[in-house]
Amino acid sequence: MPDSVLRVLACGSVDDGKSTLVGRLLFECGTIPDDVLATLERDSRRFGTVDGGIDHALLVDGLVAERDQGITIDVAYCYFETPRRRFILADAPGHPQYTRNMVTGASTSDLAIVLIDARKGVVEQTRRHAAIASLLGIRGVVLVVNKMDLVGFNQATFERTVASFHSMLGMLRALSVIAIPVCARDGDNVTTLSTRMSWYQGSSLLEALEGAEPGGETTPGPFRMPVQLVSRPDPTFRGYAGTGVAGSLRVGDTVTNTVSRMEAKVARIMTFDGCRDSVTSGDPMTVVLDRDIDVSRGDVLATAPLPALADRIDAWVVWMDDTPLFRGRAYQVMLGTQTVMGTIAEISSRLDLDSMKESSVRELVMNEIGRVSLSLSQPLVCEPYDDCRPLGGFILVDRLTRGTAGAGMVIGVRSTREDVYWHQLDVDKAARAAQNGQKPGVLWFTGLSGAGKSTIANLVEKRLHSLGCHTMVLDGDNVRHGLNRDLGFSEADRVENIRRVAEVAKLFVEAGLIVLVSFISPYRRERILARDTVEQGEFIEIFVDTPIDECRRRDPKGLYRRADAGGIRNFTGVDAPYEEPVDPDIRLPTLEVPPEASAERVVQYLQEKGMVHVG
Ligand code: ADX
Repeated sequence: MPDSVLRVLACGSVDDGKSTLVGRLLFECGTIPDDVLATLERDSRRFGTVDGGIDHALLVDGLVAERDQGITIDVAYCYFETPRRRFILADAPGHPQYTRNMVTGASTSDLAIVLIDARKGVVEQTRRHAAIASLLGIRGVVLVVNKMDLVGFNQATFERTVASFHSMLGMLRALSVIAIPVCARDGDNVTTLSTRMSWYQGSSLLEALEGAEPGGETTPGPFRMPVQLVSRPDPTFRGYAGTGVAGSLRVGDTVTNTVSRMEAKVARIMTFDGCRDSVTSGDPMTVVLDRDIDVSRGDVLATAPLPALADRIDAWVVWMDDTPLFRGRAYQVMLGTQTVMGTIAEISSRLDLDSMKESSVRELVMNEIGRVSLSLSQPLVCEPYDDCRPLGGFILVDRLTRGTAGAGMVIGVRSTREDVYWHQLDVDKAARAAQNGQKPGVLWFTGLSGAGKSTIANLVEKRLHSLGCHTMVLDGDNVRHGLNRDLGFSEADRVENIRRVAEVAKLFVEAGLIVLVSFISPYRRERILARDTVEQGEFIEIFVDTPIDECRRRDPKGLYRRADAGGIRNFTGVDAPYEEPVDPDIRLPTLEVPPEASAERVVQYLQEKGMVHVG
C-alpha cells in the first residue's frame, strides 16, 4: 500500500505536449478505470491527433468545450498511484489567460512539473510559471524538456535549455530542479528510461516523482482554526465548528479569539469519530470552550504566538483581470472565512519576467506579478504566507463583476491604527437624525460633465430646504478646489476623488443630513464602493442621463470645445470613459424632462421611501 501522497502541479505553455505527458503517466500507471478507457478509445477515433493510436492528451483534456477548441480550460485533478506512493496531479492549462487556474493548482501542490518544448526552450510562460510556483511556496521543480525527438535527441540542446532555465531563476527563492529529457508521445523517460538518449544518466519522470520530498499533510506551527459556524443547537450548548489549518490542539489548551483577543480553555473537541483528546490540522472539528467568549463566523481561534490583526498588508499579487490594478481602487479581500474591503495603497514593484528583477510601475496588467500594499477597512487575521499558507493566501474579488481579479500572498503585516481608538459616542446617527426629523441618506447624482447634475441637485436641495429638511451639497467643481485640490483627472485620481467624497458623504450621513453629491463619478466600481460606504438603504443613485451630443451642445463651461480641440486631456466622454449606471435608483432623462420636473421626481421618490415627509 503506497504510504505517502505527493501533490503535483503540471504546467506548460501552449502546445508543448503537457496533456500527452500527463495522459501517458496516468495510462502507464494503469489506474484508469475501464469505462474511462473505453470512452478514450472511442474519442481517440473521433477527435484524436495520433493516427490509429490512443491520444493520451484526451485523457486529460476532459472537457467538451476544450475538445472543440483544442485547449484545456480548467484545472483538472487526476489521481494515480504506483506501488511506492499516491499522486494527486493538478493540470493547469497553458494559455496565459488561464493563469488563475495555475494559481489555484499551485496553492495546494508540493512540486511542479514545468514543461518546455525542446525546440522553443524557455519562453515567457515558463518564467511566469516558475515565478508563480515559487511565490506559492513550491520548492521542487521537475523540468521536463519535451519533444526531444524533434531535436534529434540532442544532448547539447537539452543542456542549453536547462542552463537557461537555471539562469533565469534569478531572485526566485531556491527551487530545487531536476531536469529530464523526454519524448512524451513515445514515452521516452516518462516511466522507463529511453534507449534513444543513452547520454542521459538520470531517472525517469515517474522515478523522480516517486523520490520527491512530500509536503506534510499537516501544517506545523501553532494552532489555527477559522470559525466556519457557531453551533448552538440548544441554549446549553455552544461550539465552534471549522477545520484546523495549522498546528494541533489538545483539550486543556488555552485558545484565543484573535479578533477580540479573549482567551478560554478547550473543554471538548468533537470530530466525526466522536470526542478526541487532540486533533491536528486538516481535521474538521467542533471546539467547545470552558467559558463564553464572544466568537463569530470568520474569527480565528489560535494558540500562541497569535497571528497578526492587520489593517495593512504587503503582499505579492498575481493579477488576472482585464482591468488593470492601480492605486486607490478597492477590492474585496477574501482570506479563508474572512472578507474585508482592501484599497490598493501602493504598488511597490512589478516582477520583470525577463530579468526576474523588480521594477517600479504605476499599474499591474493581466498576468503581471507585483508587490502591493493594501489598506483594509477592518482588521484581518493573517500571517505571512511562508509561515502559514491558509492564513497568508487570499484572493481579490472585483465588486462589480464578482470575479476573482487577483491572487495574493501576504509578505508582511502592519497595524497602523493600533493606537487610534474608535470612540463610541453617546449621541449617535439615529439620535441626530431624530432631532432633524428625517432619515439621513446620500443622493448620488452621476452623469457626464454638463449633464445637469448640479442644476438638478440645487433645485432638489431648495425643495428639501423648504420642506424643513437638513441638507448638504458636495459638488465636484467645489470639492476639487479644497479637499481634493491635489487630484487631477487620471483614472487613479478620479478613483481617489470618489473614495474621499464617499467618506465625507458618510460623515454627513452620520450627522443626520441628507447629502446631495454631484460628481461625474464615471466608474461603476467606485459608485458601488460609495454605496457600500454607507448603510443599506441610505444610498440613492441618480443617473442624470443626458446624451453626450446634448452636453456638447450645451457646453456651459466651454470645456467640450476645448477638449475636442485637444486642449484638455482625459475628458470624460471625449477621451476618457463614462460607465453608465446599469440599474440606477432614479434615471432622469433630461432631454425629455425639464430640470424642475426632474427635481420633483427625486423629491417624490424620497417621500415614497419615507425619507422626507410633506406637510
Ligand atoms: S470625476 O470624474 O472625478 O467624478 P468631478 O465630478 O470631480 O469628476 O469633476 C468634474 C468637473 O471637472 C467637470 O464638471 C468639469 O467642470 C471639470 N473638468 C476639468 N477637466 C476635466 C476632465 N478631464 N474630465 C472631466 N471633467 C473635467
